[in-house]
Amino acid sequence: MLISFEGIDGAGKSTQIQELLHALNARGVEVLTLREPGGTAVAEKIRQILLESSHEISPIGELLLFSASRAELIQEVVMPALASGKTVILDRFFDSTTAYQGYGRGIDMEVLRSIIAISTCGITPDITFYLDLEPEEAMKRKFSKTSIPLAFQDDELDRMERSGIEFYRKVRQGYLDIARINSQRFVWINALDSIAVIHNRILALLKERFGS
Ligand SMILES: Nc1ncnc2c1ncn2[C@@H]1O[C@H](COP(=O)(O)OP(=O)(O)OP(=O)(O)O)[C@@H](O)[C@H]1O
Ligand SMILES: [Mg+2]
Repeated sequence: MLISFEGIDGAGKSTQIQELLHALNARGVEVLTLREPGGTAVAEKIRQILLESSHEISPIGELLLFSASRAELIQEVVMPALASGKTVILDRFFDSTTAYQGYGRGIDMEVLRSIIAISTCGITPDITFYLDLEPEEAMKRKFSKTSIPLAFQDDELDRMERSGIEFYRKVRQGYLDIARINSQRFVWINALDSIAVIHNRILALLKERFGS
């Protein structure tokens, strides 16, 4: 089974993935957790290029780098793991591309669709948990600061995070669209709920849909 987590930076994806990993491991389920971009030696190098603050990368260059990293991860790690019956949890997958490079950067959706199809080898998650949060709130969480404009100028921000609040508003709007269009696969989650409430909802949904 392939499970993906989506949402803007700071929405709580990594937190929930850790919770889910522990819960599934406790039941003896073999789980592999992976983050995008990254997950293989080559893909981790591409991750460094993409997130390095000082790099200027064109929107198409960014798309192709994310996609190259994804192609490596899918072919080298995800496909073999799924074939051996493991549960794979992805911290971001191609919906991030549609939200960030499509809705955020404005790349043509048809172009995105074909590149996504190539880089994923057609693999789609069985279920996608989308943690929905306003960008202001997400940034507060990430930096535990109350002043958003300051947080966006912070030197600690990676290249994507330096894109600014307007960019993140577009990305969030994109996610909401994607969730509506793919309503069978997507589960909308209010990321303002507590960590425990969200975790229990995720467990309940997995049980309801897949009996596990
Ligand atoms: N439901 C929640 N309520 C309050 N705070 C939360 C919640 N979930 C996560 N947090 C906190 O918000 C911060 C960001 O969470 P997390 O790192 O899991 O987000 P993320 O979506 O993985 O971000 P990124 O995309 O940058 O990796 C962390 O400090 C985390 O402890
Ligand atoms: Mg994370």
